[in-house]
Order: sequence, then C-alpha cells, then structure tokens
Amino acid sequence: MRVLGIETSCDETGIAVYCSEQGLLSHALYSQIALHRQYGGVVPELASRDHIKHLIPLLNQALDDAHLTKHELDAIAYTAGPGLIGALLTGACFAKSLAMGLNIPAIAVHHLEAHLLVAQLDTPNLAFPFLVLLVSGGHTQLLEARSLGDYRLLGDTLDDAVGEAFDKTAKMMGFPYPGGPKLAQLADEATLDSNIKLPSFPRPMTDRPGLDFSFSGLKTHALTAWQRSDQTDTARQIIAKSFQDAVVDTLLIKCERALNETGHRRLVVAGGVGANRLLRTKLAKVMQTRQAEVYFPRLSFCSDNGVMVAYAGCQHLLKGSRDLSHQIEVKARWPLEEISL
Ligand code: KG4
Ligand code: ZN
Repeated sequence: MRVLGIETSCDETGIAVYCSEQGLLSHALYSQIALHRQYGGVVPELASRDHIKHLIPLLNQALDDAHLTKHELDAIAYTAGPGLIGALLTGACFAKSLAMGLNIPAIAVHHLEAHLLVAQLDTPNLAFPFLVLLVSGGHTQLLEARSLGDYRLLGDTLDDAVGEAFDKTAKMMGFPYPGGPKLAQLADEATLDSNIKLPSFPRPMTDRPGLDFSFSGLKTHALTAWQRSDQTDTARQIIAKSFQDAVVDTLLIKCERALNETGHRRLVVAGGVGANRLLRTKLAKVMQTRQAEVYFPRLSFCSDNGVMVAYAGCQHLLKGSRDLSHQIEVKARWPLEEISL
C-alpha cells in the first residue's frame, strides 16, 4: 500500500510517500519560519496562503523522488487536526480533491497520533502498549498508547506547552522566532566558569502527586532572572542552562512517576521538543538504569513533517479505515482520546 501524507497544521508544509512493503519512499518539506520571523510568531492567515503556494511543488517533488505517478498511490492521508483551522483546511481540501480525482480513499490523521507513531518507522517491532511523552510547541502530555487509535491521557499542561515556554523564554532574551532550538543550543554549548553558581530554577508541580505540568511560572522565573541580570552573553548562557536543566528535570521526574504508576517498560518521546539533546541523553540514562526502553523518532522527524502523516495514515488504512465521502472536516481542537476513525 502506497500512502501519500500531507501535513499543513501549522507552519510546515510536508508531503511524503510511505509504502507498507518498502518503507519510506520520499519526503519533501517546506518550513515557513522565515515568513513568520518578522512577526515574532506564526500568523495564521499567512500560513494558510503559504501552504497553498507550496502544496503542488512539494507533491511533484515527493512523487518524483519516489519514482511514482499519482495514479500509483493507494490512499491520501492528511492532518485533520488539531492545528490552525485555515492551515488545516488547505491540506484537507487539497488531499480530498486529489483523492476524489484519483478515486482512492482519503484518511484523516490526528496530528499528535502521527507524532507518536513515527517512532515506529525506525523501530518496527515497537509494539503497543507503551507510554508516550508528547512534547511540542502546542502540547505537553503523558499518554498511554494502548493500541492504534486507543490513547489515554495521563497528564497535561495546565498552561504553556514546553516548546512554547522554550520559545517565549528565548524571545525575551532576544532570540528570533522560533527561539527554542537556539536556546537549547546555547545551553548545550555554554562555556561557563566552573566557579559560576547557576541560579536555582523551580521544578514545577513535582512536589505534589499527579502527572500534570505547568511551565508558565518557569518562564516568568527566567524573565525575572534576565531582568535582574546584566543582560550579557554570559547571563544569557546562565539562564538558558538553568531553564533547560529545570525543564528536562521536570519532564524526567514526571516520566519516571508515570512509569512507576502504570508499570510500562517502554517510553516513546514525540514532538518537536523530542529533538532536545539534553532530554534525549538524560532520558536514555534513566531508562537504562531502570532496564526499560526509550524510543525517539529520528531527529528530522521530531518536528512537523509529512512522513509521520503518511505513516499514521498507512497504519489506519491497513486496519481498514477509509473515507470516500465528499465532506471536508477539520478540527482546531481534537483531544487524542477522541479519535474515532
Ligand atoms: O512538534 P513541533 O514541530 O510543532 C508543533 O506541533 O508544535 O514542535 C515545535 C516546538 C517549538 O516550540 C520549538 O521551539 C520546539 O519544538 N523545539 C525545541 C527543540 N527543537 C524544537 N525545544 C527545545 N529544544 C530543542 N532542541
Ligand atoms: Zn507537531
């Protein structure tokens, strides 16, 4: 089965072809970062218009790279939510029209399910059930993945998502949008004198039971530390490092708690913040000590892309899901527990 995947939920246009027998055949990606940078964040209307501009060239590129014509596709998968409504609609209309024209099924994919399933691409024997730490620009969740399409929410953020907190903290220290990866890089490469004592940042909500998160206080903590500092490069490094240490420790504490509470021995990390090096290294160590397993998607597939949509769509197609209706429905908000395909 050859499935084309289309991702347009936010500021990346991604198209890929995944084959159930041969694996990933091609993927093409266009990032709108440069477009939104001057506004300091994603401008939804500009995102939608830009997706429209890039969908056809990316489709042609993905098909060429896979050495296929569109008539050799078996289904078209597209991100149906959650995300920016206009951006989702561009991908959904494109996918459904293409599927109708080719008389093949369209498959509505949940963006977060696509994020968490893509770890299976490089680890096909990664079987359900497993625990998921989903960390992106819009979500911070701990989930139990029971089977394809069956997920239970164990913990969620009460305010900012972890990627959002990274981006906002970076922005207030003068990094251009999206500053999260740059802030992480600065923290990783910080060359601080050993006699510098890092300020203590809180590990929010770890002093009480439960698996929920809160990152807005940590962001305010960083802002106060920045305002009180001499605002030099050294101050930037100190705050970046203290902030990242606090975020990663907090995520680690909650992951261990979730593993203890559920008894799961496999953990999948998904979403853009899954590319964070400190998080990957520290989690790998903790899981090794516990003699448990942790799986990360390939670095390039942590952030939004068409591959995860093609892969997730293919899994649902193999399970029998298909949509031949002419109705186009997308959802800006769509809890993962409510997937009903
Ligand atoms: O999953 P994603 O591409 O988009 C959403 O669905 O949100 O995640 C993007 C988020 C951004 O907030 C970005 O700053 C963050 O992931 N991010 C990182 C790193 N790379 C991306 N945050 C911390 N460390 C990183 N290395
Ligand atoms: Zn995403």
